[in-house]
Amino acid sequence: MKIVSASAPGKCILFGEHAVVYGYPAIAAAISLKSTCTIEELTENKIELILKNFDEIYEFRDLEDLFERIPPQLEQIKYFFNNIHQKLNTQIEKVKITIFSNLFPSSGLGSSASIAVALVMAFNKYFNLELDKRDISKIAFEMEKIIHGTPSGIDNTICTFGKLIFFQNNKFHYLEAPHDFKILVTYTNMNHNTKLAIEQLRRLKNEEPTFCNFIFDKIRFYTELAELEINQGNLIEIGKLMNINQKLLAALNLSNDSITEIVHLANENGAYGSKLTGAGLGGCVISIGNVDCLEEISKILSKKGYKSFIANIDKEGGIIERN
Ligand code: PMV
Repeated sequence: MKIVSASAPGKCILFGEHAVVYGYPAIAAAISLKSTCTIEELTENKIELILKNFDEIYEFRDLEDLFERIPPQLEQIKYFFNNIHQKLNTQIEKVKITIFSNLFPSSGLGSSASIAVALVMAFNKYFNLELDKRDISKIAFEMEKIIHGTPSGIDNTICTFGKLIFFQNNKFHYLEAPHDFKILVTYTNMNHNTKLAIEQLRRLKNEEPTFCNFIFDKIRFYTELAELEINQGNLIEIGKLMNINQKLLAALNLSNDSITEIVHLANENGAYGSKLTGAGLGGCVISIGNVDCLEEISKILSKKGYKSFIANIDKEGGIIERN
């Protein structure tokens, strides 16, 4: 029986989230936690969809049945099936699709983009669609639009291509990650809604365009400076710039008490710098620093009720795990 499995990393945005939606630059890292999609051939004529994180199993007679009955929260997956069925003229039948993610959902770690990329990659291999990574990233981008409205494209790009990237207006180049570059990722215990955060900022930008553009220009300045510091491998300077970026995001009302507390605890205990990552208003905080120190901070945060882990930079992006 045929079986294919693909995985794609999650991500964190080191600099420039939100501003990137308006065409400003941003820097993102793919992280070592992944989402996986496995497609297995079935003898029976049905499509089975298993969402392991939620213990949910859906069974459909065929694609038509899937389009009719798939629950609204799986709109992204429905779009994907429709897309590959129509545009790529692929008949989907007799398959069991299992999706699993190690990433906290709705927390700024790109879980939806990472799942989308793993799904497209697995289908690409299983059905010999001959898509390259650019095509895969584009399809994942269309899927992201369904949940996020107006995504910048940074999530699907980093989850497809991996490593550390400088991104602007759907173009990117790789940056060399400094030696020993580890990221402490701390969960605020609050999910966030990217679409709502983007809308909230859009309203503020409509009401206060001069103020928002001023902050976006500052974010651009520090993101470009961060690229130089990354190229030099200056972790301490990168940390300082993250702290500034955090203040700028807070000025745009994207921070909250938990984020502020985590940033404060991490920095007080020796992190070089900390900031929210992704949409903000909950989700995760990232900190950088010396590895031993990050481990200590993680213990301190755990005593305060915050789960955290130390992430390495993923070097591969989306890959076929099993074929
Ligand atoms: O929180 P996330 O993982 O959905 O990241 C969103 C990042 C934003 O800059 C706020 C939106 C985007 O599309 O770039």
